Amino acid sequence: MRFRILHYDTLDSTNNLALQLARQGAQEGTVIVAQYQTQGRGRFKRRWMSPRGKGLLFSVILRPNLKASQVSLLTHVAGEAVAQVLKERFRLLSTLKKPNDVLVRGKKIAGILTEASTGGDRQVEFVVVGIGLNVSTGRKDMVRKGTSVYLEVEEKVDPRSILEAILATFAEKYGSLVKRRPEKPEFVESSLR
Ligand code: BTN
Repeated sequence: MRFRILHYDTLDSTNNLALQLARQGAQEGTVIVAQYQTQGRGRFKRRWMSPRGKGLLFSVILRPNLKASQVSLLTHVAGEAVAQVLKERFRLLSTLKKPNDVLVRGKKIAGILTEASTGGDRQVEFVVVGIGLNVSTGRKDMVRKGTSVYLEVEEKVDPRSILEAILATFAEKYGSLVKRRPEKPEFVESSLR
């Protein structure tokens, strides 16, 4: 898969911009990344708060040949990709809590918000998979019972440095889900907008 990564400083929500671009015909593999969201969203209109620059906040546009009823598989695949990267990069063991949370020692480290547009035949037109991962968030910035990579491994990590790893792992798993031939992921990045 070819990822075109668009970096933004501040957005209301990376999912909102991704949905808008997808409606305008943006290609599969378009990725919206923000340093900060003013209205980061979770399921059931919950807010996703993340201090500027401390979390990895991004949304991927996909155009899979799936039925609406299969869209939740993408949330699962995204969770697995996050869990695999946490394990390979930081030796952090995580569990997936259905439908959309990634937990470390029972505390939420990442959340996934998948939103889809479907046609009359219940066939998917496009899907936006939004991922929020707490990367270098400190204790005092942490909302509720969350945790971050930094709190778990005491290592300051630049959120952007793990974006490509998550996307590459996701692409592999997504490819087998939608039965595409394996291909090496490619990344084209924009400068900050
Ligand atoms: C949840 O916990 O219910 C899911 C949280 C998903 C948060 C991410 S952050 C990037 C993307 N943009 C959003 O507004 N939400 C998702």
